[in-house]
Amino acid sequence: MITTPFTFIATAEAICYAGATPVFVDIDPKTFNIDPALIEAAITPRTKALIPVHLFGQPADMAPIKAVCDKHQLTLIEDCAQSFGAAAGGKMTGTLGALGCFSFFPSKNLGCYGDGGLITCASEELAEQIKVLRNHGSRVRYHHSVIGFNSRLDDIQAAILRVKLRRIDEFNNGRRRVAHLYSELLGDIATVPYEDNKGVHVYHQYTLLTDRRDAIMATLSEKQISSAVYYPIPLHKQDVFASAYAGITLPVAEDVASRCMSLPVYPEMTDESVRLVAQTIREALVG
Ligand SMILES: Cc1ncc(COP(=O)(O)O)c(C=O)c1O
Repeated sequence: MITTPFTFIATAEAICYAGATPVFVDIDPKTFNIDPALIEAAITPRTKALIPVHLFGQPADMAPIKAVCDKHQLTLIEDCAQSFGAAAGGKMTGTLGALGCFSFFPSKNLGCYGDGGLITCASEELAEQIKVLRNHGSRVRYHHSVIGFNSRLDDIQAAILRVKLRRIDEFNNGRRRVAHLYSELLGDIATVPYEDNKGVHVYHQYTLLTDRRDAIMATLSEKQISSAVYYPIPLHKQDVFASAYAGITLPVAEDVASRCMSLPVYPEMTDESVRLVAQTIREALVG
């Protein structure tokens, strides 16, 4: 299965759990999403599926991705863990392929208070199969037709999500407001996130590129402002994969991983707080 090397490990874990082998295709330097122009060269007769990730809340470039999947009869599975509420070509992420996989981990755009997730799918038959798999392979109590999992969404998390879901657009608009103000304030001193305008970016993360990452992060930390690196090591360089992928170089992912950093972004963040973070970064860079 083909996917991006610049994502959280869970994307590749899912491929391995399915008994398949991840094949990593490099990313677009502007959007950080899988580069559609490079996918076809990675397809072999053994390729079964393609998993684009809508990274940091920006939809992957789905029109060419869908076209290549149709041409080679690959199953298109969207990793929507970071893209709840994002849309591409007027359609929500999670409705663009055969399956969409969402995470409700607390940090996500729609987060619960523990762990939770959701799968969307276009086919009734697949939906039925997934319902059985999530409940220990059981449709009828104590009758097990396949080996499944305990992947039910528990009631407490569902109740929390039900309330928060009503306000998801408001939350995402808040994130977009914060992101746009950061970009206005930092555009001259860092490579700020690029919106490709093919979809709606919901800024799960606000991730910029800079050659002075360590200096910025140290200064932010001194002022007790959190920041993080998503992600410092592309998947083909992770210990778990490093020996199997030793001969592989993915220059864009490697470069982005060495220069990216993410700033605080959440719906309720005030313009004043955004200005304080931006000013602190400016001080770190230009004194
Ligand atoms: C891109 C991506 N895929 C998959 C996951 C896995 O989600 P979960 O931890 O809910 O299984 C995450 C987040 O944790 C993620 O960021």
